[in-house]
Amino acid sequence: MATSTNTRKPVALVTGGGSGIGRATAVRFAELGYSCVVADIDEQSAKETLGMLQTPGIAVQVDVTMATSVEAMVTAAVQRFGRIDCAFNGAGTEGSYAKIVDYPEEEYDRVMGVNAKGVWLCLKYEIAQMLQQEPVVSDPARWADKPDVCRFRGVRGSIVSASSVNGLRGVQCLSPYCASKWAILGITETAAVEYAKDGIRVNAVCPAGTATPMLDRFCEMLPLHLRGREGPKGYPLGRVAAPEEIAEAVCWLCSDACPFTTGEHLKILGGRM
Ligand SMILES: NC(=O)c1ccc[n+]([C@@H]2O[C@H](COP(=O)([O-])OP(=O)(O)OC[C@H]3O[C@@H](n4cnc5c(N)ncnc54)[C@H](O)[C@@H]3O)[C@@H](O)[C@H]2O)c1
Repeated sequence: MATSTNTRKPVALVTGGGSGIGRATAVRFAELGYSCVVADIDEQSAKETLGMLQTPGIAVQVDVTMATSVEAMVTAAVQRFGRIDCAFNGAGTEGSYAKIVDYPEEEYDRVMGVNAKGVWLCLKYEIAQMLQQEPVVSDPARWADKPDVCRFRGVRGSIVSASSVNGLRGVQCLSPYCASKWAILGITETAAVEYAKDGIRVNAVCPAGTATPMLDRFCEMLPLHLRGREGPKGYPLGRVAAPEEIAEAVCWLCSDACPFTTGEHLKILGGRM
């Protein structure tokens, strides 16, 4: 595998970059020196995030449920920056709150479309692009005495997708959300196996409650007697996560700090078992 040394700014693409965890992740990537592609269905919010970054970047309108839109997002990123080193697939929706018998079928399709198919489409086009990229060794001196690691260390790209605690455990009245977040773990493991030898790592994060507009909307849907579990008292740490804490984990998984980590999902549950 021919590799080159990375002397340019790496490039990160973030979907759902207009809000919450996606916004925090774009901000963190920028702090770490990445150029950023901030993508969201809400173009205005993506532009607002871009305005927070002290780094080269573009805002892109994308609907992750549509192949043509996802392909155009990747094309825009490559036209501007030449490659995509890291991607965070953060776009997601919580859906409605109802038991299965009462859950509207069209809402099931919508949630699965954004969360499961959306991640699958993003992987499809992100990986297709990464396969065309030269592998990069970002810090060859660090691995000089470990020829094996160095030989396999050239990476074409690294991708993290947002699953959830609800991709690991069921929760009442959110069946499509749970199904979609479970699906993301299966897609992640499959992609990791398929593209490991190509130098592309694929992982997921499984956060619990994180202080974002999605958590606010979710808590508003809950019956009053269940809201406590989703608030600070539901966690041994005595608080929910800040989006910046999830962003830190995403950026670490994307980075060259963990070259042997692929096909994994990182639980970020604040001590909740
Ligand atoms: N907040 C939490 O407690 C929590 C916990 C676990 C997992 N997650 C997951 O983390 C991710 C980010 O969640 P968040 O809390 O920041 O939510 P959020 O609602 O604050 O942000 C989600 C973003 O996704 C965008 N989006 C929605 N549909 C889209 C589409 N079709 N195409 C492109 N963009 C679209 C929205 O416009 C929004 O900017 C989601 O996948 C969510 O399921 C969140």
